[in-house]
Amino acid sequence: MNNMEFNKIFAAVLAACIIAMFSGFVADMLVHPHDLKEDAVQVDGGEIASAGGPKKAATAEPILALLADADIERGKKLSKACAACHTFDNGGANGVGPNLYNIVNIQKQHHKGFSYSGVLNTNGGDVWTYAELNHFLWKPKKYAPGTKMTFAGLKKPEDRAAIIAWLRTLSASPAAMPSAAQIAAESPEEAVEEATDAAPTDAEMDTPAEH
Ligand code: HEC
Repeated sequence: MNNMEFNKIFAAVLAACIIAMFSGFVADMLVHPHDLKEDAVQVDGGEIASAGGPKKAATAEPILALLADADIERGKKLSKACAACHTFDNGGANGVGPNLYNIVNIQKQHHKGFSYSGVLNTNGGDVWTYAELNHFLWKPKKYAPGTKMTFAGLKKPEDRAAIIAWLRTLSASPAAMPSAAQIAAESPEEAVEEATDAAPTDAEMDTPAEH
């Protein structure tokens, strides 16, 4: 091989390298990697954990008026979110959380064998009334700061009504449904109750929780 031939081969290899580098660069520009992100599937947190909508309630919306027509089957389905920590059968074992058979209108923190935080009655009375359950399940940590129940809460009033209506059935003698007077006392603006998806009025937002 003479020098001349060697130079030709060298130049050819060099040119090939430059073309390879350049086409890689062009390919990068053509694919626009950032566009791919837009095709990525958005994984939702699931309806149980998701916020009820753009509005943010300052306190748990009333639910007593929703109980009579609440979707008990949906409540049972929603209870899967609780089942990691709670059992629901009569005499079921306490787990991370206490057994929840027969909980409506029952003394709070009544399982002797369960080591409660002791804060579940700091906001409200000693009994799990419908209204107390509503406020607790809306945001456990807000209702009872320091609670051991690490659960974000159920944002939708219909969901809380559904699960509370289902919990009510887990009893040999289910608690009485709230009376018209109790419903009225929970929510003086009954009209707001009827239209649960209407945005709460300012007056309602400013009313401090009574429970
Ligand atoms: C990550 C575990 C966990 C999940 C999920 C959970 N809980 Fe709890 N729950 C607890 C713990 C722990 C306590 C005891 C709280 C305390 O002592 O502060 C508790 C307490 C309660 C109590 C009070 C019981 C009593 O004996 O006074 C109720 C009612 C309750 N949970 C309902 C529910 C419901 C309904 C769900 C599902 C929507 C749910 N929890 C989801 C852990 C959980």
